[in-house]
Amino acid sequence: MTPDCGKLARAWTRINEDADPPVPWRDGNKIPWHDADFSERMLGIHLDQGSHMASRTIDIINHHVGWLCDRLQAALGKDQGLRVLDVGCGPGLYCHELARRGHKAVGFDFAPAPLRHAQEVAEREGLDCTFHHADLTDLNDETLAQFGKVDAITFWFGEFNSFRKDVAASFLKRLSRVLEPGGFLALEVQPYDGFVREDATDWQLHAASPLCDGPHFWLQRHNWDETVQAEITVYWIIDARTGEAERFAQCHQAWKDEDLVAALGDAGLDGAVFEPPITGCDERFEFPVVTVRKGR
Ligand SMILES: C[S@@+](CC[C@H](N)C(=O)[O-])C[C@H]1O[C@@H](n2cnc3c(N)ncnc32)[C@H](O)[C@@H]1O
Repeated sequence: MTPDCGKLARAWTRINEDADPPVPWRDGNKIPWHDADFSERMLGIHLDQGSHMASRTIDIINHHVGWLCDRLQAALGKDQGLRVLDVGCGPGLYCHELARRGHKAVGFDFAPAPLRHAQEVAEREGLDCTFHHADLTDLNDETLAQFGKVDAITFWFGEFNSFRKDVAASFLKRLSRVLEPGGFLALEVQPYDGFVREDATDWQLHAASPLCDGPHFWLQRHNWDETVQAEITVYWIIDARTGEAERFAQCHQAWKDEDLVAALGDAGLDGAVFEPPITGCDERFEFPVVTVRKGR
C-alpha cells in the first residue's frame, strides 16, 4: 500500500502543532493498557521470555515471589494460606506463583487480554486465584468488597510511578481499607535519582510493536518537568502502510523517599523499610521495594 500524502501532511501538522514542551498528565497520561487491541498485542510482550518489558521473565518473577514469601513469613508468621492482593496484576504471573506456593491470590487490572490469560492459567492449573477487572483510580466500595480483606498487597514493576502524586495518595488510602490490621504492603518504586532529567528526542523504525501492528515510524520525545518532578514521553507512531499518525504518551512521577513515607503514613501504612532491587537483573526494569505495615 502506498502511504497517503494527505494523511502524511496531516500527521506533520499534528506533530508540528503538538504541545511544546508537553506537560506531564496535562498532555497525556499513559499508554492504553486497557484498550482491547493494544492489550492483545501487549500480552505477547508480557509473556516474552526474551525481555523484561511489561512483565519480567518467569525466573525473575519466581525470585520476587520467593523474596515476598520470606517477608510474609517474617512479618505475619505464616508460609501458607495468606490472602494477597496484586495491584495491576497483568497476566497474573505473580498471583499464579503465589498460589502454587500455597497462598490465595487476588489480582486486578484493567487490561482485558492479560486478565483473560491470568484466568485461563489459573483454571488450567486449578490455582487458588481470583481476578477482577478494575481501575485502580476508580476503586469504589463495591469493587473493594469483591477483593475482600487481605493479609498483604503487592504492586510490582514501578507502575505506581505512572500516577500523579495526588491520585496515588488517594488510591493508597482506598487499598489500605482492604488490608487486615498488621497487614503488609510491598511497593516496587522507580528510584528518585533514576529519572532522566533532560529533554531528548529519538526516532526508530519498527516492523511491528504494541503501538502498531505493522511497519511504522516511532518518533519519541521525552521531557522532564522540574516543577512537578515528573517526566512525560510522547510517542508519535506513523503507520508506514497508510501514513496515518497516532499519538500516545506516558508519564512518570518521581517520589522522594520522605514524600512516599508521608503518603503511605496518611494511608495508615507505617514502618517503611526500603530494600534494593531484589535480583539486580536490569536497572531499567527492576526497582527498589518499599515495605510497610498497616497499623493495628
Ligand atoms: C508494567 S505492567 C506490570 C504487570 C504485572 N504487575 C507484572 O509485573 O507482570 C503494568 C500493569 O498495570 C496495569 N495498570 C496500569 N494502570 C492501571 C489502572 N489504572 N488500573 C488497573 N491496572 C492498571 C496495566 O494494565 C499493566 O497490566
